[in-house]
Amino acid sequence: MLFAAHDIAGGYGAIHIVRNISFELDAGDTLALLGRNGMGKTTLLRTLVGLADRFAGGVAVDGKPLPPRNPRALARLGVTFVPDDRGVFARLTVAENIRLAQLAAYGETAPDVYALFPDLKRRMLQPAGTLSGGQQQQLAIARALATAPRLLIVDELSQGLQPSVVEDLARALIEVTGQSGLALILVDQNPKLAMRICDKVMVMQRGEVVASGSSAMLGSDPRFFDLLIVS
Ligand SMILES: Nc1ncnc2c1ncn2[C@@H]1O[C@H](COP(=O)(O)OP(=O)(O)O)[C@@H](O)[C@H]1O
Ligand SMILES: [Mg+2]
Repeated sequence: MLFAAHDIAGGYGAIHIVRNISFELDAGDTLALLGRNGMGKTTLLRTLVGLADRFAGGVAVDGKPLPPRNPRALARLGVTFVPDDRGVFARLTVAENIRLAQLAAYGETAPDVYALFPDLKRRMLQPAGTLSGGQQQQLAIARALATAPRLLIVDELSQGLQPSVVEDLARALIEVTGQSGLALILVDQNPKLAMRICDKVMVMQRGEVVASGSSAMLGSDPRFFDLLIVS
């Protein structure tokens, strides 16, 4: 088992936001985490990677339990998180952003991120802050992949982006997860997109998982989409 979350409860300070969350990922597993706004997706991701408080439950990599609130411990084990604000270094160039990630790499077999995102190759010398939103998301994903992760966690992949660039991002993620053992947890507001990229799905409502299963099975269940409709 690459990654296991067991009975997680998490939140911020005294505020409990997510609870009773359990799931496991093997190498190569891809999981879409869906749910309407405010249901706790970001908080769950942040609890898992140690950026929010874990009140109960355990997170384990390779069966070894991890301390709470310790994002570095997870990064050192090959778990890389792309936050919803993308978090690129605005004043550094594209190439410098990538280079820094390579220096912090967990593994040795990072994908060729410039081959994956030719747009970035053309913009290597451009400061990241001057890129479009789509290019910044490409850079955020490229940086994460340059660390040669075993598990990539992406919060809000397509938020605010043009459909054409979203398609490029989806293609890149499908390619890297398909040809390596890279595992993925993906949060996105577009269930069809997320389920095209990921084999499994979990739906959150008010901090808890209310549905989970394979993308193929849940995607053909009309009740599933009701869980995602803003009412
Ligand atoms: N730093 C924080 N402190 C307290 N409450 C927060 C914080 N961040 C988010 N929340 C609350 O947690 C709930 C879940 O938010 P979030 O995890 O961002 O949901 P999602 O990512 O599904 O939109 C919301 O009610 C939100 O207001
Ligand atoms: Mg969120």
